[in-house]
Amino acid sequence: MAVAESAASGIGALDPRRLGDLKSLVDARLEALFHEERDPPRLICAIRHGLLSPGKRLRPIIALLSCEQWGSEPELALDVACAVEMVHAASLIMDDLPAMDDARLRRGCVTTHVVFGEGTGMLATITLMNEAFRVISDMKHVPAERRLRCVAYLAKAIGPDGLAGGQEKDITCDGKNAGKTLAEMELRHRQKTGALFAAAAAMGAETACADADFVEAMRDYGDALGLGYQAFDDVIDCAAPSEVTGKDEGQDEGKSTVVSLLGRDGASNAASVWLGRAAAIADAAGGRGPRSLSGLARFVNANFSAITAS
Ligand code: IPE
Ligand code: IPE
Ligand code: MG
Ligand code: MG
Ligand code: MG
Repeated sequence: MAVAESAASGIGALDPRRLGDLKSLVDARLEALFHEERDPPRLICAIRHGLLSPGKRLRPIIALLSCEQWGSEPELALDVACAVEMVHAASLIMDDLPAMDDARLRRGCVTTHVVFGEGTGMLATITLMNEAFRVISDMKHVPAERRLRCVAYLAKAIGPDGLAGGQEKDITCDGKNAGKTLAEMELRHRQKTGALFAAAAAMGAETACADADFVEAMRDYGDALGLGYQAFDDVIDCAAPSEVTGKDEGQDEGKSTVVSLLGRDGASNAASVWLGRAAAIADAAGGRGPRSLSGLARFVNANFSAITAS
């Protein structure tokens, strides 16, 4: 069976109970990092609203499994995992602002800026991004040069070659035909979504003190997974109701997405190919530990395929 087919069928997908256990680990640490007693109460409340709401925690799980695949205990990567989720949560608060997607629903909850105001929403964003770097720099059990590399990966994933660059292209490329070519779309999605996935996988490997080839393979894995993930997100925007997505329906109407470029079926197929590629990269990456990252790519593909087919 071809890689993409086996990914779509869900054969070899990661056990949902394992995912639940890893998610609980991440949630407990995030809760401790942003406990209710921190000051100032309203800012912390807004951060907790955006950060601890029921997301999938996919990026931190990637960091934990990357560390594990190299052969270390996944807990070793817990703080880089949380750092990446903090950056992700910040990016969602920002993405939902009126100046960007102007969204009212996120993770089944009213968006942070609607509850707390735009000013506090922006401050929550900047706090989360900066605390992410503080958390990484405090990981005393990780050699200093590895921590430095993690800081560099995360900074690059947020900057003009990553999230900020991709999101800038997103908000300035209005209209369905503005994505133009698949190559341009891929670059935009690599930047706005893939870069953070790649940083998560690479940082997990760095905390395990993996060799350079493994770290590089993890970056490629995150990149492919991110591309597939964003393509499915674009499909789901027009294929699933708010009750399923926890987000506003039809947010992408009139925007340039993988669906506007390839059509719904074409976008789903492209997503499956990218996720299949991610699974193959993880399987070939080596490491002495369990190879759960390919199972994660299959899990994502099987779940999204089921949502978009229904
Ligand atoms: C949403 O990411 C933004 C995209 C890059 C598609 P997720 O689908 O991972 O959102 P949560 O964290 O589960 O809410
Ligand atoms: C991804 O794009 C957003 C980020 C990279 C933060 P979308 O705008 O499609 O994400 P959703 O659909 O609002 O989650
Ligand atoms: Mg957006
Ligand atoms: Mg959005
Ligand atoms: Mg979307």
